[in-house]
Amino acid sequence: MEGPIFFSRVAIGLRVNGIVHALEFDARTSLLDLLRERLRLTGTKKGCNRGECGACTVLLDGACVNACMVLAASADGREVTTVEGLATGGRLHPVQQAFIDQDAFQCGFCTAGQIMSAVGCVREGHATSDEEIREWMSGNICRCSAYPQIAAAVTAAAAQGEV
Ligand code: FES
Ligand code: FES
Repeated sequence: MEGPIFFSRVAIGLRVNGIVHALEFDARTSLLDLLRERLRLTGTKKGCNRGECGACTVLLDGACVNACMVLAASADGREVTTVEGLATGGRLHPVQQAFIDQDAFQCGFCTAGQIMSAVGCVREGHATSDEEIREWMSGNICRCSAYPQIAAAVTAAAAQGEV
């Protein structure tokens, strides 16, 4: 007869949007589920939950990752930035403002992930042309097909420099 199955738990510390958290959870938990279900940071969206749509994009130590594909345990001691962490002092981040100015969303489901990828795109110097932006952002699916406006928003944000 088979016995009960026990899953191990892990305890980690991580910084999310500048706030340090000490958390214990099931070792199988994804970073996406930790953000949404434990920390209630629901700006980061769950689309495919298998690394195909980009809706869950966040910055991990400054680099874009699909949070659904990252084990939360591997974020121990690291810095996570979500869309909730971009605005400062009551002012939207330049990329957030550019998405509004360029009308770069319709339903908005993909938008947080698009914005986080756009931040990475600009910071890493991949926003030098429409083609380069589209290539860099190709992991972020928009089912409303707002791609021209998204690319325009990234271009506008890049033109401002400080991102
Ligand atoms: Fe993570 Fe789609 S929800 S890539
Ligand atoms: Fe609807 Fe992108 S704005 S999926």
